[in-house]
Amino acid sequence: MATDVHRPVTTTKSPSTPPGSAVRVAGLTRSFDGRAVIDRLDLDVRPGEFVALLGRSGCGKSTLLRILAGLDRDIEGTVLVPRRKAVAFQAPRLMPWKRVWRNVLLGLAGRPERALAERALAEVGLEHRANAWPKTLSGGEAQRASLARALVREPDLLLLDEPFGALDALTRIKAQRLVDELWQRRGCAVLLVTHDVEEAVLLADRVLVMDEGVIAYETAIDLERPRGIADPRFAELRTELLHRLGVEAPDASSPASSPAAAAAAAAAAAAAA
Ligand SMILES: Nc1ncnc2c1ncn2[C@@H]1O[C@H](COP(=O)(O)OP(=O)(O)O)[C@@H](O)[C@H]1O
Ligand SMILES: [Mg+2]
Repeated sequence: MATDVHRPVTTTKSPSTPPGSAVRVAGLTRSFDGRAVIDRLDLDVRPGEFVALLGRSGCGKSTLLRILAGLDRDIEGTVLVPRRKAVAFQAPRLMPWKRVWRNVLLGLAGRPERALAERALAEVGLEHRANAWPKTLSGGEAQRASLARALVREPDLLLLDEPFGALDALTRIKAQRLVDELWQRRGCAVLLVTHDVEEAVLLADRVLVMDEGVIAYETAIDLERPRGIADPRFAELRTELLHRLGVEAPDASSPASSPAAAAAAAAAAAAAA
């Protein structure tokens, strides 16, 4: 029988409460047509922790995120998440017939004021586009609008499903930096699904690899921030994670072995110029 136990868990809001979990998943199973895509999966995320989730295409990452977001409740097992959570997908999913600020407020209870949207848009550097129609936004702008829509919910848990996947390399670097800043400022827990190993190592406190329906491997990222791909420890972590994903790194010492890494190198070079 499916158990559906979405409810709030302890957060660090109150200093008297012991540090709890932002996410607690135990024995989670999700099957499609009798096939368990998620198979007795356990996962804990601490309040304020930034976790990246890697795994081959089709291994169940989006399925897991949708369950955590409360969008899929046909599950077995235990899932505890904060009441305040928000999700942003690879496609920004803006309603074309609503101006950007109205998109940001979409789905919020009551009659939220425009100023609320404007504050969230300012936080992602998009205040000047509040009145625009979605189709006039660039890919990066649309993704920032999508982030503003997540932030306006004041989430204790931010769920991101390959949010930078469709962006060009330089826009992607900017979006990664923005998420890093927002996370540091807001202090919410983040679960970022990505297929980009460098992105995971750049941003996360901990990186998980999903395989065969469970978290098959995890590693803490013991690098100081801001992180640089030139750090030898960065290359080590990347090589190990690629290995766990069944991909051998072409040349672990090369800082430009992926589009993201190449763009990071280009951005660093541009900043230094
Ligand atoms: N609604 C659904 N109905 C049937 N199969 C699904 C559904 N959603 C996902 N799946 C299947 O579950 C597996 C995992 O999908 P998904 O979580 O989207 O993978 P990932 O995000 O890791 O690429 C895939 O084999 C996919 O076809
Ligand atoms: Mg997916």
